[in-house]
Amino acid sequence: MRSAALKASQDHDDQLFRLLRQLDIAPQASQRSTAQALGVSLGRLNALLRDATAAGFVKIGDHDSKDKRQRYSYALTTRGAGEKNRLTDQFLTRKFAEYDAIYSELTGTTSGFNPLNYRTKLMENNLAPIPELFVSYDSAQKLKAEAGDLVSWDLTPRQICDLELLMNGGFNPLKGFLSEADYNGVVDNMRTADGALWPIPITLDVNEKFAGTLEVGQDIALRDQEGVILATMTVTDRWTPNKAHEAEMVFGADDSAHPAVNYLHNTAGDIYLGGPVTGIQQPVHYDFRAKRNTPNELRAYFRKMGWRKVVAFQTRNPLHRAHQELTFRAAREAQANLLIHPVVGLTKPGDVDHFTRVRCYEAVLDKYPQATTSMSLLNLAMRMAGPREAVWHGLIRKNHGCTHFIVGRDHAGPGSNSQGEDFYGPYDAQDMFREHQEEMGIEMVDFKHMVWVAERAQYEAMDEIKDKDDVTILNISGTELRRRLQEGLEIPEWFSFPEVVNELRRTKPPRNKQGCTVFFTGFSGSGKSTIANALMVKLMEMGGRPVTLLDGDIVRKNLSSELGFSKEHRDLNIRRIGYVASEITKNGGIAICAPIAPYATTRRAVREDVEAFGAFVEVHVATTIEECERRDRKGLYKLAREGKIKEFTGISDPYDVPASPELSVETENVDVDNCAHQVLLKLESMGLISAS
Ligand code: PPS
Repeated sequence: MRSAALKASQDHDDQLFRLLRQLDIAPQASQRSTAQALGVSLGRLNALLRDATAAGFVKIGDHDSKDKRQRYSYALTTRGAGEKNRLTDQFLTRKFAEYDAIYSELTGTTSGFNPLNYRTKLMENNLAPIPELFVSYDSAQKLKAEAGDLVSWDLTPRQICDLELLMNGGFNPLKGFLSEADYNGVVDNMRTADGALWPIPITLDVNEKFAGTLEVGQDIALRDQEGVILATMTVTDRWTPNKAHEAEMVFGADDSAHPAVNYLHNTAGDIYLGGPVTGIQQPVHYDFRAKRNTPNELRAYFRKMGWRKVVAFQTRNPLHRAHQELTFRAAREAQANLLIHPVVGLTKPGDVDHFTRVRCYEAVLDKYPQATTSMSLLNLAMRMAGPREAVWHGLIRKNHGCTHFIVGRDHAGPGSNSQGEDFYGPYDAQDMFREHQEEMGIEMVDFKHMVWVAERAQYEAMDEIKDKDDVTILNISGTELRRRLQEGLEIPEWFSFPEVVNELRRTKPPRNKQGCTVFFTGFSGSGKSTIANALMVKLMEMGGRPVTLLDGDIVRKNLSSELGFSKEHRDLNIRRIGYVASEITKNGGIAICAPIAPYATTRRAVREDVEAFGAFVEVHVATTIEECERRDRKGLYKLAREGKIKEFTGISDPYDVPASPELSVETENVDVDNCAHQVLLKLESMGLISAS
């Protein structure tokens, strides 16, 4: 009888604990998803909420929204938060007691653990578990089945990265995609509406068509690209952001030379949705599974290893000897262990792919003294936002249990702006990090510029070398390294480890053995196809790489036979050509494309697709519209003038003249052979074909 009463009171406490925990994670989630997360019926949830409100643990808040459909939100009161902690302690005590009973049965003594002391000690440092947005396994199964009926959004690759870190606590304290008020706070002051430091907007951008089908207050399912439901989200906010303002505030300039600004204007949807997320499962990764860790897994690892201080090193590049020296030194100075924490989500376009990088990191890991250093992969989608990004990286590492973070010169810098100048000052990131580090609870470690001193055959920090004038200081810049790799030149052992160089050479053969794309653009009748054909024959005569011609007319007969000439259709046509060209380039072939491709933004998008795998050579066939019309080989200009063909490029539809093509060829008074030869010379000067 007594034990039945005890069990009933335990069940009550457990349900209350789960309710308080869930409301803490997602105060604005719909009742339906809260009930699912707890594994109880809606009726039972209402009873629990009634009791918890009456006990003063929960307060009902009103939404600001005028939308009548929107429900109440339930927030924990201070008393509720205290009760949650008390119940956590109680739960831990019970579990430790169970553990102790087994321990003493096996060993005849007690384990000596005092669970509450243990918990308090954990809470003191970075090692206590942090909140995740996942529901329990059983609830997830139920929620997943139910979510099948919800309207669903197919997440973009960037949103999948963001969602993973939201759910696993990497973006703690965020509980979902930002609401409008949080977004405004983050954009303008780097703080959410309740004052938490958060520098980068984490938003669910969607298109107008999808947004138009939604009602505020509705639950939606979030799916990965194969259709697997990863989470549900209660849409509490829907708004049209001012993207130019976001670009200015977050990235420092509304300049599309910045990759994240370009993404914002040309890839991201025009409407943002905000609301709390209920996590069902992690995105699936088939690669390097054992090397990916959630914040709580890393915290548990540090606890197990007894690592009290941990310096994190963020990177999106292969590590060479200087990096190994500086990271080890940073850890030694902080008297800490070292976590190499490379980003394997989305990095800067053109970076070495993460498969190659991880193989390189593994080789370098062997060079650290045993048991001092570990590596874990972070599925972050970087924004290259310099100073704000550094603070963001720090918060993420803090969530992963690290106590120190290495910030270098121009941390997460995006390269030059459209005026050829750097977006941020070289030390802006360090300054901003320093300003916020106390609040963040993670300390900055300065990144030392390490150079090779030939006479002493060792790496030293540049600013600590006293006899600079008497010794030979060696260093190879990133640009120089890329040149040496591209041209197959020697890379000295003092610079990198042979295993790393081999890996890099394997995936990045010299340029004249890599794939590339030659992209002709110009008016109809400008001579694109003729020059492209001549070029193809010349390249085939040289041999070595397969050559494919994607001529405008041929593509429209095969790949794009259903398309017309509206802006939307032309974009689709060019994106298809770009996709095929990027695949050819990736696999080591030469793709020659010859469409009109009238719009600069589309050409830029294709360039980005291709440059992920090899060179993109834009050739403007600069025949004037007057000359094309005079030639009128197909009789189309006449029809266009008569209005019989609508939206004709140059006559009744625009053509954006390429601002900085790799090559521009004139066709008036120059024969085709000569034009094709000019392209060959260009390819040779870029190292894409060899002179012999
Ligand atoms: S686009 O804009 O890049 O998608 O065009 P593209 O695929 O290269 O196709 C252009 C060829 O289609 C013929 N054609 C037209 N061109 C431009 N505007 C209109 N409205 C149009 N209608 C038909 C034309 O013959 C183009 O061939 P090329 O080889 O360029 O002369």
